[in-house]
Amino acid sequence: MQVVSTIKNLREITKKARRAGQTIGLVPTMGFLHDGHISLMRRARQENDVVVVSIFVNPTQFGPSEDLDAYPRNAVRDKALMVEEAVDVVFMPNVEQLYPDEFTTFVEVEGPMAQVLCGQSRPTHFRGVTTIVAKLFHLVAPDRAYFGQKDAQQVAVIQQMVRDLDFDLQVVICPTVRETDGLAMSSRNTYLSPRQRAEAVVLSKSLFEAREVIAGGERRAGAVAQGIKVRISEVPDAVIDYIAVVDARTLADLDTLTGEVLIAVAARFGGTRLIDNIRVAVSIHEGCSITGR
Ligand code: PAJ
Repeated sequence: MQVVSTIKNLREITKKARRAGQTIGLVPTMGFLHDGHISLMRRARQENDVVVVSIFVNPTQFGPSEDLDAYPRNAVRDKALMVEEAVDVVFMPNVEQLYPDEFTTFVEVEGPMAQVLCGQSRPTHFRGVTTIVAKLFHLVAPDRAYFGQKDAQQVAVIQQMVRDLDFDLQVVICPTVRETDGLAMSSRNTYLSPRQRAEAVVLSKSLFEAREVIAGGERRAGAVAQGIKVRISEVPDAVIDYIAVVDARTLADLDTLTGEVLIAVAARFGGTRLIDNIRVAVSIHEGCSITGR
């Protein structure tokens, strides 16, 4: 496994691979790896000749009062995990590599897609995500790039950017990996106290219950959202940020469930904000099937 920290070295390696006719899979991460990240690497390993993983805690996607400095980091452990997954190249740059002093260009998906849901409480977040992901796409020029359904809005925004800016690559979306009790894996779960950790499972529980309600025939988005709200509100320390029942591609609000539906929640447990979601394929005539668990 080659570990590189400069753009120059990364480009040398990826150019050489392309010239040799090898396919490249890119897995962008902020490190502190868990089984969710690993699932992306395994998929990339199966589908590409060369697997590149980036580990970079991207400052532009954190708001001024967010957890940039506190964000968990463990490069030694991360490297050992990536060796086990047969990753070929790890890109671990410092901030100056990707954002030199004179840096002033941002990539932003305009309109409601990046402003709704997480965009409401994190107004500059997706601009930071699309900027860093666009930079990584240019640096690596992968054939495929791997993202988790766990961050459903990030997926929608990146897919929009890829369409709009004609990136010549395939975005591969991998299912959410969960703890045995259902909690979606996240680097931020380490912030939770034991009590908050136990309470946080209400997010996935409420979503799985919503899935059952929809399977039972409910098609009113408001009723589905209300059911989730009641369930999460039973946990005294959970503060709901949003409950959204939206079109999975555009993130536009739905009144009636139809097509690919995204049900997404965000809530705070103490100082820790967690997100989770499920996708439900709803056909008015043929009932529904569930994807992206
Ligand atoms: P990070 O939170 O480290 O996540 C890296 C990738 O792992 C993302 O595509 C995310 O959706 C995926 N992931 C996280 N938890 C997952 C889970 N439980 N199951 C499946 N996949 C999961 O997302 C980011 O970093 C950053 O915004 C990034 C895209 C790297 C840009 O800085």
